[in-house]
Amino acid sequence: PVLVVDYGAQYAQLIARRVREADAYSEVVPSTASVADILAKDPAAVILSGGPSSVYADGAPQVDPALFEAGVPVLGICYGFQAMASALGGTVAQTGLREYGGTQLRASTDGSTLLDGQPAEQSVWMSHGDAVTAAPDGFSVVAQSAGAEVAAFEDDERRLYGVQWHPEVAHSSFGQQVLENFLRRGAGVPADWTAGSIIDEQVALIRAQVGSGRVICGLSGGVDSAVAAALVQKAVGDQLTCVFVDHGLLRAGEAEQVERDYVAATGVNLKVWDASEAFLAALAGVTDPEAKRKAIGREFIRAFEAAAREVIEDAAEASTAAGSGDDDGEVRFLVQGTLYPDVVESGGGEGAANIKSHHNVGGLPDDLQFELVEPLRALFKDEVRAVGAQLGLPAEIVGRQPFPGPGLGIRIIGEVTRERLEVLRAADLIARQELTAAGLDSTIWQCPVVLLADVRSVGVQGDGRTYGHPVVLRPVSSEDAMTADWTRMPYDVLARISTRITNEVAEVNRVVLDVTSKPPGTIEWE
Ligand code: XMP
Repeated sequence: PVLVVDYGAQYAQLIARRVREADAYSEVVPSTASVADILAKDPAAVILSGGPSSVYADGAPQVDPALFEAGVPVLGICYGFQAMASALGGTVAQTGLREYGGTQLRASTDGSTLLDGQPAEQSVWMSHGDAVTAAPDGFSVVAQSAGAEVAAFEDDERRLYGVQWHPEVAHSSFGQQVLENFLRRGAGVPADWTAGSIIDEQVALIRAQVGSGRVICGLSGGVDSAVAAALVQKAVGDQLTCVFVDHGLLRAGEAEQVERDYVAATGVNLKVWDASEAFLAALAGVTDPEAKRKAIGREFIRAFEAAAREVIEDAAEASTAAGSGDDDGEVRFLVQGTLYPDVVESGGGEGAANIKSHHNVGGLPDDLQFELVEPLRALFKDEVRAVGAQLGLPAEIVGRQPFPGPGLGIRIIGEVTRERLEVLRAADLIARQELTAAGLDSTIWQCPVVLLADVRSVGVQGDGRTYGHPVVLRPVSSEDAMTADWTRMPYDVLARISTRITNEVAEVNRVVLDVTSKPPGTIEWE
């Protein structure tokens, strides 16, 4: 892999994504990883990320100079660049010339590895107070800006490179090219991380993990579980049974859609398991978001266990009927469509905070009877979509907007009840219909509709006073759900949604718009 060492800013994930966009596999490691830890992963290259510290501050994360002697190509970015300069004997100082945001760069592109083929004047995105004032021996300086006389340096012999600006952000016009120049020309990393290679690798890993065992996969109707199931089906064929758990927290028409689209596309064995009574009972009286997520995660597993018992019985019957009699295989494996951001946000990435327990990562019960199969655990959403398309899943599935596993359960603020679910389902259906009619489905990443069930407000309708509940529209734009912005949607579409919801859903007398980005908000309200 290409390892991205995280010096504590939000940029490391972004760098990892950009490296993958350049068709090279990348992983993020914490800055506490030792050189031995790093070398144990046999990295093709290492990128040191930006970070908030000053290299000279007490307790600032340092780079062990041994890393630069290991023969691994390294690119330092911003803080990583300064840490590299200081570890190799250059100087870093507070020059009093801070640069934040768009900055003009003068580049010496001739003969440069990083800047080859780029204009001599270009705009890059900077964010620094300290600056490298003298490059270490052996490096040539290939760029300057007003606030950084050494804005980039290279040593082709040792394959060490550094830039003061942030090539990973879109505001650096030739940023992606800098990263690709480093990977290809500097480090010789091949462009071989593609949807096809991910499929081959995962199919082999799945076969090795499950052998001839039986596998079940929960289909949620979303992209992730559909792609995970398709990978497993490709790997082990009809050892796989998919289970669609109807937890009663679905949107209108969802169960029918899964049966229609997914089974038609893949021909997979599908069992629909109605567990809505059990889920609602488990959610009775629960208002705390984490408690809801945990309760839902637990019920999912119970439902899968019950469904798995039926799969075993069905298989035993079938093999008796066929006279083979040797298939008493337990269902030992459960497929989950866990993605890389779920792992990181559930605190699974080293050093990351637990933002919320995604039900398929942090919400699993301790006494889980299954071994998990998680073929998407290292992937971002756009990569999952590319894999799905490559596997031949139809556009209606791979292009679907995300919908959380806990469903409408985390979009009712307050206790989840059958009546409240009906109210939310009706409002949500109207919003979805109008967004689709306005042609906004592909512009918007997703648009949760949230019922503030414990809030009431006064309204007037016809000639009478109403005392109803607000719903919140939360349209967001995002690349990977790690960060998001609220979507600037046309007012007339908002107006139509609002009018229809307040007219057609009796309990709702107010529609409000959430104009918070992530961070500081998350996409879902719970
Ligand atoms: P947040 O609310 O964390 O959501 O900003 C990020 C993305 O993840 C979806 N989401 C979930 N998906 N299980 C899932 O499968 C979950 O528990 C879960 N919680 C949030 C959310 O819809 C958004 O796309």
